[in-house]
Amino acid sequence: MNKVIGFVTEKGGVSKTMSSVNMAHILAVSGYHVLFIDLDAQMNATDMLMIGTGYECPCYTNLLCHQLKSADILYEGFIYESNFDLIDCIPGSPLLKDIIYEIHSELQEKRSVFTCLRRNIELVREDYDYVVIDTNPGDTTLTRCAICACDGVLSPIKADNFSFSGVTGLLQTIIGLKQSCGVSVEFMGMFFADVSLNSSGYKRVREWYEENYSSYILPVAIRHSVQVSDSTLKYLPLLVACKRHGTTDDYIKLVRTLGLIDDAHNERLEKYLAPRKAGGSQRKGNIPAREVSADNVGSQGGSHG
Ligand SMILES: Nc1ncnc2c1ncn2[C@@H]1O[C@H](COP(=O)(O)OP(=O)(O)O)[C@@H](O)[C@H]1O
Ligand SMILES: [Mg+2]
Repeated sequence: MNKVIGFVTEKGGVSKTMSSVNMAHILAVSGYHVLFIDLDAQMNATDMLMIGTGYECPCYTNLLCHQLKSADILYEGFIYESNFDLIDCIPGSPLLKDIIYEIHSELQEKRSVFTCLRRNIELVREDYDYVVIDTNPGDTTLTRCAICACDGVLSPIKADNFSFSGVTGLLQTIIGLKQSCGVSVEFMGMFFADVSLNSSGYKRVREWYEENYSSYILPVAIRHSVQVSDSTLKYLPLLVACKRHGTTDDYIKLVRTLGLIDDAHNERLEKYLAPRKAGGSQRKGNIPAREVSADNVGSQGGSHG
């Protein structure tokens, strides 16, 4: 079993990055080997997973617009170890902001440009149990490449009126790409994220979605909590920053609800969750946890260009 899962929404700020990073980390803690691909020029996921590791931003033109010849090319120029056991990462790049124009110009010549990323991932796919992709917001040529690379797409949504049009647009885009590019991509569902479970607004919006999109709404919601922003300040996934917390539990429930963890791996996750004696911090030993302070803001690890 291996699966490529992308977090895609047309709207920004809806927890794609938080959700993709935490899902990847939960899978890794459970013992799965994960490749994380950061397709957002903001590189928030790269910072969370790779701060201080000294990576180079890869040449996304080659990854997205050309067919690479071998897995070795990916391992030598694109894939880096992250700060966390069992997670490798293709870091983001600020140059991803302009890649849409390159994809667009390639598109004039060959429709197959949308499936380049998929074919390139194929080269290393057997080495991983899961590939998790974080994407930029919007319906761009870049998100279309990401969708085509996925076996399954997940969409976090906010409990507001603005998420609605983005979701309908995404479903139409997926249907269109399946037809025009001949790829098999499943919409795995949408889930509410960053919500206050007891607020009347959330309950009202959830009811509306259940009436109109019942088959797509997952029975899990990710709670809003300050621990989430705290975890980003420490560059730590929730399972490390706050192992025992409602929002962490919500993400674990999401991963389990989607059936991504089998019994043997679930046992390993349970061991990690059990009080102290089992599982340690999953951050590798050599990278000290960093908190943001006036001294280190703006001097983050990695080479962004
Ligand atoms: N469950 C949550 N509780 C509190 N803050 C959250 C939660 N999920 C996301 N956030 C915050 O919301 C903002 C947007 O989240 P992010 O994952 O970056 O969204 P996206 O990748 O979709 O743009 C970030 O500042 C993040 O820390
Ligand atoms: Mg993001």
